[in-house]
Amino acid sequence: MQTVTNILDKARYIGDELLDKTVIGSYTWPGYYLRKLWWDDHISDATALQGKICIVTGANAGLGKIVSKQLASLGATVYLLCRNLKRGEAARREIIDDTANENVHLEIVDLSSQSSIKEFATRFQQKNQRLDVLINNAGVLLDERMLSADGVEMTFATNVLGYFSLTNLLMPLLKNAAPSRVINVSSGGMYLARLNPDDLQFEKRPFDGVQAYAESKRAEVILTEYWAKQLSDAGVFVHAMHPGWADTPGVQTSLPNFRKLMQPFLRTPEQGADTATWLAVTPDIANYPNGQFWFDRQIRPVHKIISPRNTPDEIEQFLKICEELGQTEN
Ligand SMILES: NC(=O)c1ccc[n+]([C@@H]2O[C@H](COP(=O)([O-])OP(=O)(O)OC[C@H]3O[C@@H](n4cnc5c(N)ncnc54)[C@H](OP(=O)(O)O)[C@@H]3O)[C@@H](O)[C@H]2O)c1
Repeated sequence: MQTVTNILDKARYIGDELLDKTVIGSYTWPGYYLRKLWWDDHISDATALQGKICIVTGANAGLGKIVSKQLASLGATVYLLCRNLKRGEAARREIIDDTANENVHLEIVDLSSQSSIKEFATRFQQKNQRLDVLINNAGVLLDERMLSADGVEMTFATNVLGYFSLTNLLMPLLKNAAPSRVINVSSGGMYLARLNPDDLQFEKRPFDGVQAYAESKRAEVILTEYWAKQLSDAGVFVHAMHPGWADTPGVQTSLPNFRKLMQPFLRTPEQGADTATWLAVTPDIANYPNGQFWFDRQIRPVHKIISPRNTPDEIEQFLKICEELGQTEN
């Protein structure tokens, strides 16, 4: 019996690896359905997250809204961090109506603004002693270079400094709730990028939105590894994941041509959100090494053969810039 199980596991592993190499087959809905055949953990227990406090950024649309809904349906108290009151309130109402969980709260936060993040963290800490799950999800892919209110290039401000500062400021509450979890929503696009710590904000190169996005998503994986190293002893599990290609408002506005081409094959937002929610709830989280990059509930390498790599000095330089521009502690 054991031998049969081993052979099946091996077959599954090889099949999954081959599927991943196709990229298109892997990132679209066929990849999701094929892998789902092997999952025995269907995250449907309506009390799995009862008593847990969760934060989801960028929660009014796309993957963030679905993750929030999934967490609420598992009994969590969920804080939706959104920048727009009307859109945020509409999402909050929809989540409460769909899940019958009244413990869904809206907080207005602009994740590209350091003062907005700091104000929120202070407010949140006055009301809460613990945070069980933080999902850093809010992200942008822009077609022109824009600056945040702090004068920082907007992709870097939102996708990197937003994750960096919010996580650092909420760290005491995550430690209070240990074992707790931070899940950083990255992208498969990060495989094509290395950090450029001499020009993180595209001041020395012509702006390329897709490149800026890919570099920011690589930065999120590097931050994940950095925090995981720091926090393993504190019982805070930090992981990154990527959703594949899911049909969301973000893809519709930022990548219209890609969407037109791929639409029949794009994942639903629910399929894209699955691994983030699973990481938030799986009881097995402590059995995996901290700081991994996940896709479809499986640990994935952070580099492929094609991936350009950063040196330790470049990573240190990058972290120093994050510390200069972002928040490290309250
Ligand atoms: N969809 C995919 O195929 C895919 C693939 C790889 C990675 N991802 C990653 O998944 C995450 C979610 O993507 P998505 O496709 O769901 O995008 P989306 O549909 O554009 O949703 C993004 C969410 O982030 C919010 N947001 C953006 N900037 C913000 C800011 N400064 N402050 C507060 N909220 C802000 C948006 O709010 P507004 O409504 O106010 O704009 C929206 O709620 C992103 O990190 C993205 O990089 C997605």
